[in-house]
Amino acid sequence: MKKHIVLLPGDGIGTEVTSAAKTVLAAVAEEFDHTFTFESKDIGGIAIDNHGTPLPQDTTEACKNADAVLLGAVGGPKWDNNPSHLRPEKGLLGIRKELNLFANLRPVRGFSNLLHASPLKREVVEDSDLLIVRELTGGLYFGTPSERRNNGQSVVDTLAYERSEIERIVRRAFEAAMVRNKHVTSVDKANVLESSKMWREVVEEIKQEYPEVVTEHMLVDAAAMKLITSPTQFDVIVTENMFGDILSDEASVLTGSLGMLPSASLNEKAFGLYEPVHGSAPDIAGQGKANPLATILSAAMMLRHSFSMDVEAQRIESAVKQALDLGFHTPDLDIQDGHEVNTEKMTEVVIDLLKTDT
Ligand code: NAI
Ligand code: MG
Repeated sequence: MKKHIVLLPGDGIGTEVTSAAKTVLAAVAEEFDHTFTFESKDIGGIAIDNHGTPLPQDTTEACKNADAVLLGAVGGPKWDNNPSHLRPEKGLLGIRKELNLFANLRPVRGFSNLLHASPLKREVVEDSDLLIVRELTGGLYFGTPSERRNNGQSVVDTLAYERSEIERIVRRAFEAAMVRNKHVTSVDKANVLESSKMWREVVEEIKQEYPEVVTEHMLVDAAAMKLITSPTQFDVIVTENMFGDILSDEASVLTGSLGMLPSASLNEKAFGLYEPVHGSAPDIAGQGKANPLATILSAAMMLRHSFSMDVEAQRIESAVKQALDLGFHTPDLDIQDGHEVNTEKMTEVVIDLLKTDT
């Protein structure tokens, strides 16, 4: 298959981890006889420096013409005192909006060699492997009115959804469950919120299209508790924008390491922007210390969700797991009796393992 990928390295370690993931993607292309072409564009602080705006027109155009986008991270102290229209994160919010990326997917998976890094007990987090599907362009964060009233003595925010917006995110969750463990937990607050009642109705309707998938409803407060007391009961969680924001940060403590968490933000046509959850880490930028695994795992998500290359995606994920099992790690991870290596070497180990996997 032939695919064109736009790289948005951004700032700080963004350039290092994006370049690592690009090398892994090139190795996958070679192994599986695909042709991946790459084009790099500026976003964030580097774009402000080079073009006077965090999201140049040329970057948006290139993304719209690509098959998928891989982003590093944006931001750094250099731009912290800029006026708001010249802030690096404006580039990130802008590109998500331009591309209508309504579905945010955050997988959380514990790697056995890293379980001690979680503040939770090993027996609780062991074997946890879940995917949070968060609605990203609607709900409480985008509803209007959202304003102060009565001379600042009252305030209103609005949780609004069109049925079609709920349908598309719920369907995306069921699709994801079909290639995972066929279990969907829909999280809401249907005992209180009208929007959640409609959310439940839509889930009940759409589940008919996926008879193989086990579906359950859970109230968000109970879900918050179960996520850290019995995470292995979850496979796919689908939920409203703000609930998803909170639950996905909560779920990230299961793995205990920021350098390991990938994400995808998708539109209606499975076009997606893939990025690590972490930021630009200015404290370690340019020193070869960055953990490339979150971005490499984001590249695996790209193969799975945008290119339907499930076998290729699994090959990357299994190489990452093997590398950690063998004790290889960057300085941010602490593996007892492991081999501490730099970004480049970590990437090479993953590539060697994915090539020898049979
Ligand atoms: P951060 O995620 O960049 O760093 C937090 C800590 O984790 C640092 O000690 C860093 O060295 C470490 N770390 C993060 N990723 C790592 C990796 N791959 N390998 C090894 N260590 C890693 O968050 P922080 O420090 O709050 O923000 C730094 C800059 O990044 C800020 O300008 C912030 O606005 C931006 N940022 C950008 C995001 C994005 O582009 N999506 C997300 C979060 C922050
Ligand atoms: Mg958040």
